Amino acid sequence: MTDAELLTAAEKQLRANLRQGRSAVHGGKRYSFCVPSNVTYPFQWFWDSCKHAIVWTYIDVGQAKEELLTLVRAQRRNGRIPHRIAWEPMLLYPYRFYLHSTSFRHPVNSRLVDPPVLAQAVERVYQRSGDRAFLERIVPRVDRFHRWLEANRDPDGDGLLSIIHPYESGLDHKPSFDIVFGFQRPNAPGTWLAVRWLDLWNRLLSYNLPRIFRFDRFNVEDTLFNCLHVQGLESLGRLWRELGDQTRAAECESRARLRAAAVLAKMRGEDGLYYDLYSRHERMALVKTVAGLFPLVLEATPKEEARRLVRNHLTNEREFWLPYPVPTVAADDPSFNPSFQSPRKSGLWRGPTWVSTSWFLLHGLLRHGFKDEAKEIAARTRRLVEAHGFREFYNPYTGEAYGAPGFAWSTLVVDMIAAVKGA
Ligand code: GLC
Repeated sequence: MTDAELLTAAEKQLRANLRQGRSAVHGGKRYSFCVPSNVTYPFQWFWDSCKHAIVWTYIDVGQAKEELLTLVRAQRRNGRIPHRIAWEPMLLYPYRFYLHSTSFRHPVNSRLVDPPVLAQAVERVYQRSGDRAFLERIVPRVDRFHRWLEANRDPDGDGLLSIIHPYESGLDHKPSFDIVFGFQRPNAPGTWLAVRWLDLWNRLLSYNLPRIFRFDRFNVEDTLFNCLHVQGLESLGRLWRELGDQTRAAECESRARLRAAAVLAKMRGEDGLYYDLYSRHERMALVKTVAGLFPLVLEATPKEEARRLVRNHLTNEREFWLPYPVPTVAADDPSFNPSFQSPRKSGLWRGPTWVSTSWFLLHGLLRHGFKDEAKEIAARTRRLVEAHGFREFYNPYTGEAYGAPGFAWSTLVVDMIAAVKGA
């Protein structure tokens, strides 16, 4: 496939997943966004939309803006933006919607959040569009979201945010959660079931955060979530500067610095990889997942530390450097499972390669000057997509595709190729 053919395929996929209209369950508000997959995920997801918007910038920057504006139209008065939004009314919603919401009739807004990548997406859309009016409209909203997170999700005030549910990590059944749920050994079915119980528990507590944290049942300082929050603050600082608000810009930058320091100091394991901390006692969940490489995406990570992560872990063939990198779990971790049976049997994010995590790391590599490694990831991801299409995830050895077909964020391969071209 030529680059142009790949871009056409991506466009076709995004257009096939596009949903537009006025929402009867959101007070007649307009919506225009892509569903992650028409087959298995026919709603709007926060961090998926941010990625879709980045790919839209190559095709139709107006639609890129629409995707993000739709997302912020669902922002709550307190600043929180739901992790998943149903725009179209349904007689009966999938059962999880009732568990993730406190509304019985129209559980359209989830009470959970997603990894905060909105500022990053806004920055990319602005770079391509130069549209200041868009920036003026959306940046204060993004700012409020980050503030909500800091005010409500840092119960111990240590600069690291806590998630209250595995879905908030974006990596639903990541095997680090097995430990959080009390399993001694890797246990995909057990974790799947524990997530259902946790849904019930949080619903029972009406998503009251102080109560949830008091019980300390699932309180995880997640590496990927925190790194993306810091990366978001870094973007937000630049966006405020662009808007001429030096005070807010400096404030975001200093929050980013403090929080990056907390990640680097508290989450680093003895082997140099980064790990989630769980419970109020901040125990380390020692499972080697792709999230442990995420300090690579941060500007604040010292060059030497980035080099160690790349040399000792990312490009280590016993861990993450497999034929189709980057697997979601290191190959030498006991929980690593490169194949997939079903969410219930084998879970998600327990070994296969997903385009999105590789995409973040590719940009991290470029940020720290590792061009060859970034090029290699782009080339091998391209091979995956060309052979199997835009699927949800892939076997890191054989490339076999799994999960949802027509999966929109896998079109990020277009941005990976563009990013390494100039490098
Ligand atoms: C799965 C993924 C999550 C994604 C969602 C929609 O739940 O784990 O990261 O946002 O699907 O694509």
